[in-house]
Amino acid sequence: MSTFVVDLPIDGGRLLYNTVTGSILFFESDQELQNSKDILINNWFFIPVVDFDEFLWADFLRNKKRELSSRNPVRSYLVMTTMDCNARCFYCYEKGRKPITMANDTANKVSDFIIANASTKKVKLSWFGGEPLVNSQAINIICENLRRNSYNYVSHMISNGLLFSDNVIANALNLWNLKRIQITIDGTEDRYLKIKSFKNSKGDEFHRVLNNIESLLKNNISVSVRLNQNHDNTADLLNLVDIIKDKFSDFDNLSVYNRLLFDEEITPEIKNDYFNLKHKLRRTKLLKPKSRDAVKHSQCMADNDYSLVITPDGHIGKCEHFSENHFIGSIYEKDFDCQVINQFKEKHEKLSICSTCALYPSCVRLKMCPSQLEQCQDFTREDLYDDLYFMMKSCYHQKLHSLR
Ligand SMILES: C[S@@+](CC[C@H](N)C(=O)[O-])C[C@H]1O[C@@H](n2cnc3c(N)ncnc32)[C@H](O)[C@@H]1O
Ligand code: SF4
Ligand code: SF4
Repeated sequence: MSTFVVDLPIDGGRLLYNTVTGSILFFESDQELQNSKDILINNWFFIPVVDFDEFLWADFLRNKKRELSSRNPVRSYLVMTTMDCNARCFYCYEKGRKPITMANDTANKVSDFIIANASTKKVKLSWFGGEPLVNSQAINIICENLRRNSYNYVSHMISNGLLFSDNVIANALNLWNLKRIQITIDGTEDRYLKIKSFKNSKGDEFHRVLNNIESLLKNNISVSVRLNQNHDNTADLLNLVDIIKDKFSDFDNLSVYNRLLFDEEITPEIKNDYFNLKHKLRRTKLLKPKSRDAVKHSQCMADNDYSLVITPDGHIGKCEHFSENHFIGSIYEKDFDCQVINQFKEKHEKLSICSTCALYPSCVRLKMCPSQLEQCQDFTREDLYDDLYFMMKSCYHQKLHSLR
């Protein structure tokens, strides 16, 4: 069998997933599997060639995909409307950065830049910060200009979700074309208020954010709730899951996922807590399966050729984690710095452990990424396999359901 096959025993048989092609096969018994050599060969689960180097093959496909994708023009922009924020989360990786806010004139120039750079009238916008809603005026200006020029845009947002109101939601729907938003909730009411430490807090922010989430969902804007987890908040987050489930059980367009804080030390206890919370989110159907991933040519916007980050003062970068340096240019210049672009594409070397890893075709580890280490952590692999098993089972059950 190919190294790039994930084998998962399930009730009534075995599922095999090919991480190069993304296809899944089901066999009722080992006997059926042994009798299905042709199916395995035709679908690249078994490669009947002596000395075939699967890793070179995966690299070849990855490079081809990269080549094809780099022919596409820039079509995705992450716009930081401000580095200011109405909250003061103790863990924020942006702490200490200058709270620069995008001026109206800069917002006009951002849309000019997008229009001047576009080769089609279709763009995807992501609003980011700081807290992007602290400067929703910049979003209005950029969208009004794109609309006036007949652009077909959709947008997403990463936000703490507090500053929505009926008017803002109306704008989100009618002007921003907001399809999806990610909102972080840090705990049940008391912990949430302590962690967020909102400026000019009235003490009702936990309920306001939950009510805002409800309004967004009712208006068909999908919400992904992020739970930031560390060594001392698991019990509280487990309670929060019950609150979220009770309040939003009617909505299909809500999902919830947990992440460890970036600098959290991976102890056996935190690993256990993490999977405990993740599996509760699955049981409550709040965590949705990830989409099927075949060979991956890029990790994220940092190493693809079709995404740019625009900072509040008009600098252009490749990653939201670098909002004060490592720029590739600005909205006021025509040319980009290829050296910096290539720096963001540099990858960690293949490790000896990769030679037996089925995840290799979808694994891209960038040297510049603050959350990807040179060594591969057991926890990271366990988490990725856990996602894969969940995806495989979900696909299988969906297929069974469709056949009934
Ligand atoms: C910097 S915030 C900016 C957008 C917005 N203010 C918000 O909180 O969603 C972007 C994302 O980073 C996450 N984040 C910030 N600091 C983090 C850390 N130390 N570890 C993990 N995630 C972090 C937040 O939960 C949020 O999802
Ligand atoms: S709400 Fe977002 S930007 Fe503001 S402090 Fe928290 S994580 Fe940072
Ligand atoms: S870095 Fe880790 S996850 Fe990626 S291929 Fe190597 S062993 Fe697998």
